Amino acid sequence: MKTLFVSLSLILFEVSEAALPKCSYDVCTNGGLWSEWTSTEKCPTDCGSCAKRLYTRTCLSTNFPNCACKGESVRKILCNTHVCVYPAQRTCCIPYVPMTINKTSQCGPLPKDKLLSSEAPCCPKDGFWSQWSGYIRDESGGWKRSRKCLSDSAGCPCDNPTNNVEISKECPCKKMVDVTNMVADTHATFPLNVQYNDTSCTAFQTMEHYNDQNKKVVPCNRWGNGKYLWANLIRYVLPNNTRREERIQDCVSNGPKQVTFYCDLVSEYWRLDANNEEVVGFNQINII
Ligand SMILES: *[C@@H]1O[C@H](CO)[C@@H](O)[C@H](O)[C@H]1NC(C)=O
Ligand SMILES: *[C@@H]1O[C@H](CO)[C@@H](O)[C@H](O)[C@H]1NC(C)=O
Ligand SMILES: *[C@@H]1O[C@H](CO)[C@@H](O)[C@H](O)[C@H]1NC(C)=O
Repeated sequence: MKTLFVSLSLILFEVSEAALPKCSYDVCTNGGLWSEWTSTEKCPTDCGSCAKRLYTRTCLSTNFPNCACKGESVRKILCNTHVCVYPAQRTCCIPYVPMTINKTSQCGPLPKDKLLSSEAPCCPKDGFWSQWSGYIRDESGGWKRSRKCLSDSAGCPCDNPTNNVEISKECPCKKMVDVTNMVADTHATFPLNVQYNDTSCTAFQTMEHYNDQNKKVVPCNRWGNGKYLWANLIRYVLPNNTRREERIQDCVSNGPKQVTFYCDLVSEYWRLDANNEEVVGFNQINII
């Protein structure tokens, strides 16, 4: 694609460098990134505005996210518009008549076709990057993600082309937030107190699991028909702001009392081990 584009530019404009100018506007909200208009046809007539030539252009941003091209890709444009001279039978083809345009004798009036040059292609200001990939493990023990310069193949290199890899020492999932206001209802909550492990990209919080009515600490409720007799529970919020509730443990049996999460390296949200749901934030509920 690049080679083709460069060689066409060379023929049309006889420039030695095919670098396109930077656009002064946002390419994707203004009809996408188009190639130059080009034509492989010769004008079938020599003069007199007697014929049109077929021009085509191609959309170079088809593969860019949210950057579809708008507008026509084919156009017929009047060619060889200068006045015919003797021994031609007529000076201009109908409906055109001789007139002076731009100090030369032309067969006009010329249609108000937009001039080809006014739609000359230009490059998105900083180039056009793909979305970041999901994170993967890096040899250094951290995580890395990458992206590609999509506009490169359209002749528009990205600024800072080496800025295509990002390395994170920390586990890339966003820290969870205290969502008391969204989840408490008529209850109280225990504060968010998550321990993150950047080596394993996991997280946990130790769950309260002793009821003490006098101290107004009541983490466990009777769960008559459920898996456990006494269960502690969290309420959490999904990325789309939906609220959910999950019972985590039986308060009275042995074993660690923790709610545990793992990091989804693609969505960069923590997921609850118990059900794989993405969690923006959570609180353990104090059922007083
Ligand atoms: C007038 O002629 C000059 C020289 O050929 C050209 O560069 C310019 O684009 C023309 N202007 C118009 C409006 O056609
Ligand atoms: C973090 O996880 C790694 C790998 O599972 C483990 O070896 C390490 O002890 C954990 N660190 C802490 C502080 O829990
Ligand atoms: C929110 O996301 C969950 C899990 O993806 C989905 O089941 C639920 O229907 C969504 N709710 C809304 C209101 O979009």
